[in-house]
Amino acid sequence: MSGIVMPCITDHLVLRTIDGATDLLIEELRAMASIHSIRQASVDTVECTLDGSLDELAACALYSTIAVRDPEKSLQFGVLGTLPQPVRFRVGVDDPQRRRTVIGATEQRFGWVNRPGDWDVNLVPSGDGWIAEFGPLSWTRRFGGVERLPWSTNLVVAEVLVRLAKIRAGQRVVDPFCGTGTILHAVRRQHPTAHLLGLDHDPRALRIAADNALPLARGTADALPLAPGSVDRVVANLPFGKQVGSHRANRTLYPAALNEIARVLTADGRAVFLTEDKRLLHSTIERQNGLKLVRQRLLKYNGATPTAYILTRTRLARTTVAR
Ligand SMILES: C[S@@+](CC[C@H](N)C(=O)[O-])C[C@H]1O[C@@H](n2cnc3c(N)ncnc32)[C@H](O)[C@@H]1O
Repeated sequence: MSGIVMPCITDHLVLRTIDGATDLLIEELRAMASIHSIRQASVDTVECTLDGSLDELAACALYSTIAVRDPEKSLQFGVLGTLPQPVRFRVGVDDPQRRRTVIGATEQRFGWVNRPGDWDVNLVPSGDGWIAEFGPLSWTRRFGGVERLPWSTNLVVAEVLVRLAKIRAGQRVVDPFCGTGTILHAVRRQHPTAHLLGLDHDPRALRIAADNALPLARGTADALPLAPGSVDRVVANLPFGKQVGSHRANRTLYPAALNEIARVLTADGRAVFLTEDKRLLHSTIERQNGLKLVRQRLLKYNGATPTAYILTRTRLARTTVAR
């Protein structure tokens, strides 16, 4: 947001998140004094009005993009009016003919300049019209880009997993499948006092996570270098699907990793796992005496449909750890 003046503005905004996270986003918006008239518009979008500065919205990590419904009004009273003039824009459609038509019409109507590689506004079709995505509030421009791998966790998904973990100040949080560290980054952003540790068996992923300045250990999730009852929260995107590992490998890995997590969790510990290898995780939890499933949440984004599972200790395991 550097270089942008933040006056008080009024605007009608469309926030894009993921299917399965709108309730969490709405909860955060309700706590903001500058946001009103909040409503879920579709499975992955929330609409609201802004009356005030953009600061509260800019600090929320549960949406990927913000768009304005009415660019003309927004230029006068809203977020588009905060942009340097002439506005640099792109048109987010694949069809080249349609794109050219919209570029020409926009240049003529608003005097904006088409800069597909360096834009502040992205015009995208929505319903029977167009909405204008406001570049300075896109996720990576707000929180910075980090190096990632193709299987790195979706940035908004990482935020959701961290909220489900209900982390408290100063707690020890471990991601035993940390990869490039996306989830631990989200923990650090939301809970700066948490003590973090990431593990992964892939040195390439760990190199990237180290560049992202996270405390790390090389290790396998089935032999955690951690003392019994020493970890408050485990949050992880487990290997699943075609890009990382295989269902066959998971049949051994999931039971071994869950045994280790049951060993290292504190008595009131909590674990959050994301996977699409759902049946396997369910049957592994059923056979694991130390952990029980307390809630689950289906997430849908970019063709993926994983579920986030929230686990705590069974009562028996709780008393054994407490002793
Ligand atoms: C879905 S990815 C996690 C992505 C990560 N959250 C990120 O944002 O980059 C699963 C990770 O598990 C790691 N992994 C697979 N088997 C493992 C094992 N036995 N022990 C530790 N890590 C393992 C992979 O190297 C991969 O980085």
